[in-house]
Amino acid sequence: MAPADEFVVTPYEVKGRIDYQRLRELFGTQDLTPELLARLHQISGGDLPPLLSRGVYYSHRDLGLLLDQFQKGSPFFLYSGRGPSGPLHTSHLVSFDLCRWLQKTLGVRMFIQITDDEKFWARSGLTREETAYWGMENLYDILALGFDPKRTHVFFDSRSIAALYPLAIRVARKIPYSTVKAVFGFEPSTNIGLVFYTALQTVPCFWPSWAEGRSVPCLIPCGIDQDPHFRVTRDIAEGLGYPKPALLHSQMLPGLLGENAMSTTGDREDNALFLNDSHSTVERKVRGAFTGGRATVEEQRRLGATPEVCSVWALWRTRFAKDDREFEEVTRDCRSGALLCGECKSRVLERIHAFYAEHAEARIKVQGWAESTIITEAPKAL
Ligand code: TRP
Repeated sequence: MAPADEFVVTPYEVKGRIDYQRLRELFGTQDLTPELLARLHQISGGDLPPLLSRGVYYSHRDLGLLLDQFQKGSPFFLYSGRGPSGPLHTSHLVSFDLCRWLQKTLGVRMFIQITDDEKFWARSGLTREETAYWGMENLYDILALGFDPKRTHVFFDSRSIAALYPLAIRVARKIPYSTVKAVFGFEPSTNIGLVFYTALQTVPCFWPSWAEGRSVPCLIPCGIDQDPHFRVTRDIAEGLGYPKPALLHSQMLPGLLGENAMSTTGDREDNALFLNDSHSTVERKVRGAFTGGRATVEEQRRLGATPEVCSVWALWRTRFAKDDREFEEVTRDCRSGALLCGECKSRVLERIHAFYAEHAEARIKVQGWAESTIITEAPKAL
């Protein structure tokens, strides 16, 4: 096998050193070009969020088409989700951060899917009580990022099944077993819950169109590992009379221990900053994080460090730099050797602690209305 092929990315397995351009070609998605970013910039009438301007989102499907429709007066809705296998970590926020920005900037609706069923089927070590418990905990964290209670709707799979199932029945009939076997690499021993599951992840893409009896465009910001599900969705959309969802794909962020991507299965405790980590745990994890620094201070002053491989730089890049200027400053001073790893860590820790404090407060407020966002009934007309 050629070295560039020595990685695996599916919704159920991420491993190896990922070559993102190659992955994009393998998946057949489109490049998120400067022209498209410029269009987004113009439509939003302001600055692009760092996740777009700094290249964390790098690939898409049909974004241009979606923006054409938007500019002609046809608003889309946003859709993303979370498989609740445990507490969220800061890298899980990448898709919801972008959604929150898009909702706020364009005033669009957001649909969130919490897949407590999927994670129960995918992880033999988890109980039903655990996936349901983490589902609610994760939902509070997601909503606390700043979603609008009036424009945000949640499918919590085990509790929303009456709303999802009438459409899931129709979706499931369109998906042959041979397709999911090829797309997800299922084995004869795979449980049949997972074989069916992709139908449920598809349903929210079509749900508003179904509920409203008209074609409503959908945009899904997600990690590129989720693309295989939506390839299936897009293949069957027209046969069911619904528009194909558009997608925006992000790279998977490096873990704190310096692995190329955080595995979606079995995250190691110290490899990520979990949102329920204590002040001292956050401190310990960042202090122990892998960096792009040199062996000695003297060498680092002389030769500089390598931000691109550094897990702390990834924190600055995705969330904690307050603006592009600060981000460029950190990057430049790191590369030149002016900024040493210890000081860089102290600086980013200040930001992280501030974010955790703010987030804890927002999370408490959200608990008063989170329940009311959960959809439990099928649309009345049906
Ligand atoms: N399968 C996703 C996970 O394991 C959860 C999910 C459901 C999702 N619907 C989605 C993710 C839509 C992105 C977009 O976390």
